[in-house]
Amino acid sequence: MISAEDRQPDPAMAGPPVPSVPLLAVHGLQTRFKVRDTTIYAVEGASFVVNAGETIGIVGESGSGKSVTALSIMGMIRWPGRIEGGKILFHGEDLLQKPESEMRKLRGRRLAMVPQNPLTSLNPVLTVGDHLREILWVHLGMRGSEATERAVNLLRRVGLPDPAQRMREYPHRLSGGQRQRVMIALAMACTPELLIADEPTTALDVTIQAQILELMDELSRESHLASILITHNLGIVAGHCERVVVMYAGRVVESGLVGELFAHPRHPYTVGLLECVPRLTAHRVRTFHTIPGSPPQVTEPPMGCPFAPRCSRVIATCWDNVPPLTEMSARHLTACWNPLPAPAPREATA
Ligand SMILES: Nc1ncnc2c1ncn2[C@@H]1O[C@H](COP(=O)(O)OP(=O)(O)OP(=O)(O)O)[C@@H](O)[C@H]1O
Ligand SMILES: [Mg+2]
Repeated sequence: MISAEDRQPDPAMAGPPVPSVPLLAVHGLQTRFKVRDTTIYAVEGASFVVNAGETIGIVGESGSGKSVTALSIMGMIRWPGRIEGGKILFHGEDLLQKPESEMRKLRGRRLAMVPQNPLTSLNPVLTVGDHLREILWVHLGMRGSEATERAVNLLRRVGLPDPAQRMREYPHRLSGGQRQRVMIALAMACTPELLIADEPTTALDVTIQAQILELMDELSRESHLASILITHNLGIVAGHCERVVVMYAGRVVESGLVGELFAHPRHPYTVGLLECVPRLTAHRVRTFHTIPGSPPQVTEPPMGCPFAPRCSRVIATCWDNVPPLTEMSARHLTACWNPLPAPAPREATA
């Protein structure tokens, strides 16, 4: 175990290859919802960075605060929600200090999001073409045949068959997967610098899923697009992300380079998540693992580590003190009072 004194207090920007001002730096984000007499501590001190051109994955059980973090970055938290603390630095400027008029200009143009539920995000009285033409007009001043041509091309790129016909359709006429692809086309319409994709491929069959992920990879190579990919699928993270951020009960509990973190997780929760991934043997799926217990109710600020009641490595300190996110090795951060031991040097480089 490492002592509190050994820990660096704010290592969120650690590691030599990280530019001095990352594209996005989230520091100590706190987002809460007040529902009648209850406060829901949805995100409680989340910190992570995203560099230009990088794809990071955010993983964690249902209710861990992934979508609320994404909506907070986009400036889309609405009543009864409120951002009560922290900073969201985009190119070093705090988005939380920007007026809504400025955020509206950034959204869709430089910051884009594919939301978790595409149906509620599309206006039922506008056609797919209307949605795309509007965003191209508002942000790029593009109209007429130029806008229509770009819109059709975008729909073709996200794999929608017969895009010219789709332009005339209303959202309710599309399947869940088709709507999701329209949302991705809308998000990519103005070649943003940062794309947040919240479970972008859940409703899609595996071929379209692969197509969408390849498209995101391609865009990130071509236009240096940075992405945050929120997903429950650790296989997608392994295949498409450079770094991964693990959330639990509104906090970041571990983050690091995908290869290192998946091979040598230091937080017991990450170990549990990885053990839950079913592995195929020659003929059948082996027994499914689960993490015992369930995530805490986030209606009270935790006294200690929120994972303590489910943790196999729990020690006395865990019950009374929230562990800070601490550098374990270059760009590998863990919030745990009793992390798993570091791999032996030869094992770490294998
Ligand atoms: N509009 C809201 N009003 C009240 N509570 C909310 C609201 N939106 C989110 N929450 C709460 O905030 C917490 C985090 O929710 P969030 O949607 O971010 O989880 P998530 O990690 O995205 O889960 P999932 O994997 O199921 O999408 C949950 O406890 C949720 O109930
Ligand atoms: Mg979500």
